[in-house]
Parts: sequence; structure tokens; C-alpha cells
Amino acid sequence: MTGITFRWGTTLNENPVFAPWPELADISISNHCTKGCEFCYRDSKNDNSFMSLEDYIYILEELNHPEWGNVFQVAIGGGEPLEHPQLKEIIEATISYNVVPNLTTNGHHLTEEIVAFLEQRIGAIALSINDIKQLKMHNLDLLRRRNIRTNIHYLLKNDNIGQAIEILNGAFNHCLSGINSIIFLTYKPLGRASNSNCLVLNDALKTFVKLIDKQNVATRIGFDACFVPLLLHFTNTNVDFIDSCECGFFSIYIDENLNVKPCSFATDDKYTFNLRTISFKDIWEIKYSGYRNSIINQCRRRCKNKDHCRGRCPYYDEINYCYSNVQEEILYVEDKLASA
Ligand SMILES: C[S@@+](CC[C@H](N)C(=O)[O-])C[C@H]1O[C@@H](n2cnc3c(N)ncnc32)[C@H](O)[C@@H]1O
Repeated sequence: MTGITFRWGTTLNENPVFAPWPELADISISNHCTKGCEFCYRDSKNDNSFMSLEDYIYILEELNHPEWGNVFQVAIGGGEPLEHPQLKEIIEATISYNVVPNLTTNGHHLTEEIVAFLEQRIGAIALSINDIKQLKMHNLDLLRRRNIRTNIHYLLKNDNIGQAIEILNGAFNHCLSGINSIIFLTYKPLGRASNSNCLVLNDALKTFVKLIDKQNVATRIGFDACFVPLLLHFTNTNVDFIDSCECGFFSIYIDENLNVKPCSFATDDKYTFNLRTISFKDIWEIKYSGYRNSIINQCRRRCKNKDHCRGRCPYYDEINYCYSNVQEEILYVEDKLASA
């Protein structure tokens, strides 16, 4: 399991706009979590809201297309997946459908026993943090000893952008040996996450973005789709390594109640459909054509990578740092960034 996938259109050289069947499903197997992070966009609670194994298997069945086969992989999250009483069965079921299971976790419940189970079974584990000093070395050692591919998911917000700059400068390289990558996730104001901690295009964020081209991190770095417009516009990152937002185009989100959404962060239910009432095939092939057609890049700024960008996030104006209707205004922001 390398995680490498190949994508082509009607010819090998064509980069398709969307996939005939999703490559990845992001599945919340519960909204149960005992950690209570104040920024949790899912507002997860200690409420035992677990998806049943039967429902999970039903989802796997739905995610199988007669012609295209299965999704390649699932990202199992929640809630806290390590608190799900049937996590092991869920992982085994995933494998029995020839789908690669991956796990996103706060890592609090990692033990020698669960790590031994995960070894040879999962594609990768993502450990979520918002302060690198809270990274538990004991957890990392457990995972490293078993050679489990481990990614750090670093939630990037206004109150830790200073530390994120230090990370790019290499100040925390001693924590990152044996880590596959550190992925910066854009903070979204949903659930318990307040607007006040959203990133703003201030000097700190500009410094962070400018550092990306000359970062000194001891492992690979990556960004979520929400950060892509900034990467495309302000960095020299090779566009071959950048995918614009894939939600509803190449990936899908399913929650513990079997609601399907283009994105786990969706703020409205316009494109929410329940698998108990409509098949996944109809959702992907019929219902989501409307969503895909609605995503049009209307950004008016001059940008070297306009053709590679999907433009603004349809759900959060707060995180559209790069987008503007007004060309002059954007050139002003751009000039400010250049001179910062
Ligand atoms: C909701 S958590 C659920 C899985 C698991 N409990 C964990 O902590 O990773 C899934 C991912 O969402 C991220 N996340 C939580 N709140 C967020 C927010 N307000 N904006 C963006 N990402 C957020 C977390 O950092 C984590 O990587």
C-alpha cells in the first residue's frame, strides 16, 4: 500500500474534472468523543452516537459500483474513532471490501495493543494536534516501532500561526523524525469553533505563506484543499503536486447517520442526501452534478495559476483569503504581501 493512485480521462494525458466514482470517502463512524476540544467543528460529545457495524457495511456496499468498483480508500474519523467499540470490526470489514482504511485520531487512546492491530491493516494514521508541544512522543514511538505511516494533522488557526512559522523554520524537526508528513489544516468556524480564531491575511499568515517555498521541515509538508488558492497564487509550488478542492469531485463525506455531503465542513444541507432513502450511485451520478456545476471560479484577480484553481470555498467566506471580485483590491493585497 503506497497510497499512490493514478488518474486519467478519456486519454492518458487528460486530467478529468471529476471521477466517475469517488477515490476517497471520509466517514465519521461516530460523533462520540470524550476529549472536548474547544475548536471541534463537529461539536463532538461524550454521547455514544456510534455508527453500527451493519450501517458501516451498508455504506461499503453502497460505495461499490458495478462498473467502477470500490472507492480506493476511506478516512475513518468521527468523533474519536479509537473510542468506537467496534473499530476493529470496521477496519476488518473495510479490508474485506479491498478498500484501504486510514484513521484520523487525537491519539489519546493509542496503546501497544491497538497499534499492533493497526500494523499491516491501515494505510496511514493521522494524529491531530494544534500545538506541536502536545505531540506525545510515546505515541510516535509506538507507531514508529511498527512502521505505521504517520501523518501529523496540524490545525492552523490564528492563535498558533506563530508556532506554525517556527515549524516551517525547522524549530521542531526533533519531533518529526520518522513522520511521513505534516499536513496543515485550515481552521473552519463551525460547531464549537468560533470565528475569532480564523486565520486572517495578516503579517503572520503572509510570513507563513512566504516561507513555504523555503521551508526547512525535516519531513514532507502538505495542506488541505482550503489552503490551495493561497498556495497556487503566492508560492512557486509545482502545480502537478496540487489538487484543488476535491469534495464532490473526487471525494465524499458520510456521517454516522448515513448522511452524504460533498464536504464534512458543509454549512448547509443543499447537497445532503441520506443513504437510507437514495442510493450512493444516484447521489454521485445525478444529485452531485448540480453541486459540481455550481463550483465556478469567478475570482477576478490576476493569477498565474487561475486555470488550476476552483476559486472560492462555497461554504466559508471567512477562509477565502485569496479570492476577490475586485481586481484592484486584490492587486493591493498582493502588493502588500510582496512587500511584507
Ligand atoms: C473532528 S476530528 C475527528 C477525528 C479525531 N477525533 C481527531 O481528533 O482527529 C477530524 C479532524 O478535524 C480537524 N478539526 C477539528 N476542528 C476543526 C476546525 N474547526 N476546523 C478545521 N479542522 C478541524 C481535527 O484537527 C482533525 O484532524
